Amino acid sequence: MNHPAMQGLDLQVPAHVRHARLIAWVADMAALCKPERIHWCDGSQEEYERLCQQLVDAGTFRKLNAAKRPGSYLAWSDPSDVARVEDRTFICSQQKDDAGPTNNWMAPAEMRATLAPLFDGCMKGRTMYVVPFSMGPLGSPIAHIGVELSDSPYVAVNMKIMTRMGKAVYDVLGSEGSFVPCVHTVGAPLQAGQKDVSWPCNKTKYIVHYPETREIWSYGSGYGGNALLGKKCFALRIASIMGHDQGWLAEHMLILGVTSPEGKKYHVAGAFPSACGKTNFSMLVPPAGFEGWKVTTIGDDIAWIKPTADGRLRAINPEAGYFGVAPGTNYHTNPNCMASLDKNVIFTNVALTDDGDVWWEGMEKDSGKFPDHLIDWQGKDWTPQIAKETGAKAAHPNARFTVAAINNPALDEAWDDPAGVPIDAFIFGGRRSTTVPLVSEARNWVEGIYMAATMGSETTAAAAGQQGVVRRDPFAMLPFAGYNMSDYFQHWLDLGQKLAASGAKLPKIYTTNWFRKGEDGKFVWPGYGENMRVLKWMIDRVEGKGQGKDGVMGITPSYEDLNWSGLDFSAQQFGQVTHIDHAAWRKELELHAELFQQLRHHLPKELEETKGAIERRLAA
Ligand code: GTP
Ligand code: SPV
Ligand code: MN
Repeated sequence: MNHPAMQGLDLQVPAHVRHARLIAWVADMAALCKPERIHWCDGSQEEYERLCQQLVDAGTFRKLNAAKRPGSYLAWSDPSDVARVEDRTFICSQQKDDAGPTNNWMAPAEMRATLAPLFDGCMKGRTMYVVPFSMGPLGSPIAHIGVELSDSPYVAVNMKIMTRMGKAVYDVLGSEGSFVPCVHTVGAPLQAGQKDVSWPCNKTKYIVHYPETREIWSYGSGYGGNALLGKKCFALRIASIMGHDQGWLAEHMLILGVTSPEGKKYHVAGAFPSACGKTNFSMLVPPAGFEGWKVTTIGDDIAWIKPTADGRLRAINPEAGYFGVAPGTNYHTNPNCMASLDKNVIFTNVALTDDGDVWWEGMEKDSGKFPDHLIDWQGKDWTPQIAKETGAKAAHPNARFTVAAINNPALDEAWDDPAGVPIDAFIFGGRRSTTVPLVSEARNWVEGIYMAATMGSETTAAAAGQQGVVRRDPFAMLPFAGYNMSDYFQHWLDLGQKLAASGAKLPKIYTTNWFRKGEDGKFVWPGYGENMRVLKWMIDRVEGKGQGKDGVMGITPSYEDLNWSGLDFSAQQFGQVTHIDHAAWRKELELHAELFQQLRHHLPKELEETKGAIERRLAA
């Protein structure tokens, strides 16, 4: 089959693709992007291995020592292409108000005119991969399908791990099923005879969403959420809009199961901003003092949550793999994650050891020492001495691993269940050195929405830009809400009201902060597995038996309300992570006021009222 504008390039549509609109779109995009050839991904293991070998031959991948890390590869990106680019991410709705004040906006016609010349011929000399994928179990009523066209084989192999990718998607699509079209290019066309670089990309970057037509166009980056379009672009930005229209939620949340020694199981969904502990918490190993407790992972980054007829909220993980932060991960902080990384992993921007394995900052805690020599993520020699002198990091702070969920020894048996799991509690947790206490429980749904909406967090290496700056990150969704943030708050309020009206018991809402620091600049709370102590208090509260006191910022536990068995953590230290500094909170509320001023258009009045109540308690 050929298209008039194809200038001889044969589309070579496989027989199992019978979707005329999809084929026409691929033809149009091929005519625009002008790739050298087209490869329709079938998602097979054989194809995966072939593409990985091709990436090795191209110098993008290095095969790791098969005795140490079987089936695994290491990629080093261009040093300018290492994280999501929030200032280059756009929501191009017809009306600016629909994108809201927290998103970059451009009128769709203007953006299309901007992108047209960039995409014209952008894939010259490259292969265009047609990557069909399902977010959620294939064929399930809660799943949604996307097709990503990309000129990056790195993207194709990552999508194989991160999503249900392959031929079977076409069976579900049939001849007219709906799919979200996603176009991605690294923006680095090759002239005849031009030698490729190991990580092609472009200084100019655009990560563009058209909400009304549900399209994604990504230009110039090959990294993470900029390029694996099923993840943030589809499963959060576009899906949040679909959820708003259809009455469900798409959230930046981990989902875990926690089973008590009596065998009772609970499910918790937690929204922590990027690089603030979702993967860690979702794989938590209960510490000493919690014998018989078990935590299992449903998801580590994204949750799709739908109300059911019985008035419960059920959550699924639309992804099939983890694209997780490597630095800081070790056998003390996250043993389940380390076990997941034993084999069949793609590592990006970690360091290479002399024996062909990987290394990143934090691993010295396992071995008790730093390696004598490494090749760092930029291909340079690294020694402990060089690090001391120059501060050079062996791994980029946003270095990541891509690994299938089935590698995780703590994977929940229901992780793939199309019915999802019923949510008992939500957690919202920012990264704050000061001010915000270890844990508090909202007294009701509206107060919980307030806490989530006003959450502040210090910026991390997950996004390009300055690090460690406190910013408001409502619901950990600041970079991911595909529409007006105030309308998003209203959507959460409406959903709660609807469930309550049906007589349902709403999930409890908590805020956490694992990151308060002492005068010495060190974290006071031990974190990681010890977060179980806080999780157990939440479960006790869900059961109606946990103690807590009414405070300025919701209900908080006293020292004796948590189980300290197996941990040496004094009441004085507990005070350090729970103390409410009234002066600091008055300043914090000024920041809430600033946020509300920014979001005043459509801001639900309940939030202003809740703010007033907090201010009165603070003044009393
Ligand atoms: P994204 O994938 O970017 O959405 O991030 P995430 O929320 O899944 O973050 P992740 O769990 O990968 O954690 C990122 C960093 O936070 C790592 O360096 C962890 O070591 C660190 N971290 C996670 N949990 C804790 C904790 O309880 N305490 C402290 N101090 N650090 C933590
Ligand atoms: C995040 O930044 O929240 C991530 C990584 O989970 S990325 O997929 O690059 O967005
Ligand atoms: Mn994330």
